[in-house]
Amino acid sequence: MAKKNNDFFVEKKAWSVVKDELLGCYFMPYVSKILHTYRPLVYVDCFAGKGKFDDGNPGSPLIALEVIDKCQESTSMESTQIEATFIDLNYADDLRNNLQKYPWVNIISGKYEDNLANVLQGKERCNVFLYIDPYGIKALRCSIFDELSKKHFNSIELLINMNSFGFIREACHALGTSFNDKAIFDDLVEYDPSKMDKSSESIDELNAIADGDYWQDIINQYKTGTIDGYEAEARFSEQYCQRLRQSYTYVLNMPLRIKKGQRPKYRLIHATNHRDGCLLMVDNICNRWEALQEIQSGGQLSLFEENYDNQIVDDTDIANKVSAYFARYSANTSLHEALAGFFMEYGPICSTGTVKKDLKKLESNGRIIVTREPSTTGKGKKATYMSEEKGKKVYVRWAQ
Ligand SMILES: C[S@@+](CC[C@H](N)C(=O)[O-])C[C@H]1O[C@@H](n2cnc3c(N)ncnc32)[C@H](O)[C@@H]1O
Repeated sequence: MAKKNNDFFVEKKAWSVVKDELLGCYFMPYVSKILHTYRPLVYVDCFAGKGKFDDGNPGSPLIALEVIDKCQESTSMESTQIEATFIDLNYADDLRNNLQKYPWVNIISGKYEDNLANVLQGKERCNVFLYIDPYGIKALRCSIFDELSKKHFNSIELLINMNSFGFIREACHALGTSFNDKAIFDDLVEYDPSKMDKSSESIDELNAIADGDYWQDIINQYKTGTIDGYEAEARFSEQYCQRLRQSYTYVLNMPLRIKKGQRPKYRLIHATNHRDGCLLMVDNICNRWEALQEIQSGGQLSLFEENYDNQIVDDTDIANKVSAYFARYSANTSLHEALAGFFMEYGPICSTGTVKKDLKKLESNGRIIVTREPSTTGKGKKATYMSEEKGKKVYVRWAQ
């Protein structure tokens, strides 16, 4: 169901609560950690909206600014440099009004495509975090993200909300078919949806968003009934993320549901070149999952522990995956690098802590060799830590 732009901000919907929960919860540990790089943080909300919903609930700008406030209050660092920019095509005046408490922020009226390069000009040595929350799909051209990855930022992270079903529906129109699984859109209220038709312009535009024509095969399989709409969406999202991985080493793809037990309605994509950013996001997804489940289920608790994909968590299956994955490391490899690789292979199926516990079991069974630097604690005992931080390195390798 398509709605006018204006209605979006009347009342904060469950859907926006789920998205913001993930932004806020990830952004808190991210800011705390990134400040310790002693480099400035440049935060850009590329589709900022009004700042606040008309019912008083905070939008993404206020959520991020409250996190920044808290981190600055609690940090032990003497000085921190944080710059925040909010771009919106339609609501810059509302943003100015709703963000009055933050006179230091930068508010831009216009399109993110036209303004981002300018905002990031001269920020090469900074840590850049972009929140990308558009209504439709047109803004999600892979080439924009590729370009960003080539700049010499100290680090860059993207958190993207993608209306992947919107892409599939428009791709169907472009290839002369219609999307029959209309129920998918029943409670996904869309604002200002992209519209494509059976023209070469639409095909070119979809090729540019996806940066390739791989989506056409998926739609053709949907057309012939080989796969259904959900499978088409899952395959497209997977391939879109694979494509992003040409520029970003670590790309996590998380399906989001509006109601528990439902099929996904949207995707949250996290892209970074930084393994620790990926691991932080994995734990954020897993730790916040309970809270998200509650929003999605209206407070009903599930009998079984479920993962981000609403799959029942099976400890044996996870342990088997850990063994299968880590068996590939015949030479010493950084633990964090290997962990990030594990989550690239299987998705954020469990927390980093769960994998580390399984690794410790494998270590005590002699199946993997763990080398720690330093190898002893301050009191001279054998070190057992499983975390790489300042002054601590951990390497793993499979025992042959
Ligand atoms: C989904 S809403 C953002 C909601 C916001 N993240 C929040 O949580 O409050 C998308 C916003 O993008 C704005 N917009 C649409 N096209 C844009 C563009 N090309 N560049 C920047 N903003 C755009 C719309 O005015 C709208 O406010």
